[in-house]
Amino acid sequence: MRTQTDMTKEQKIKLLKLQQGELNAVLIYQRLAKITKHKKGKEVFSKIAADEGKHAAILRSYTNEILKPKGTKAKLVGFLYQLLGHNFVIGLLEKGELKSIDYYKPLKDVFPKIQQIIDDELRHAEMAKSLLK
Ligand SMILES: [Fe+2]
Ligand SMILES: [Fe+2]
Repeated sequence: MRTQTDMTKEQKIKLLKLQQGELNAVLIYQRLAKITKHKKGKEVFSKIAADEGKHAAILRSYTNEILKPKGTKAKLVGFLYQLLGHNFVIGLLEKGELKSIDYYKPLKDVFPKIQQIIDDELRHAEMAKSLLK
């Protein structure tokens, strides 16, 4: 059984950064669920938000640290949604979801529950794309 003390400082820093990112992503998707006018938007964004919360919990199970979500990015994304539109933000989300997989991949052999996160992020990219209009 892997314990907190087995991980290197570098690994812990990476996991904490990812954990913070997942918590912030909950706020981003909750905000989009609130403001979207796409007819499936509320449902899809809410589902993704719930998954991001699960991802934060998975990472917390490794870091043993409780972090607070930060709303700065959610505000920015909400602003971009109003300013540049639905499809622009969908494109951003798809890229962000796929980019996050690059960060998770090198960690998945050491932290096996990360595979679940990778599978979900790939699905999120598809879910986001399904909202293109
Ligand atoms: Fe996630
Ligand atoms: Fe995601």
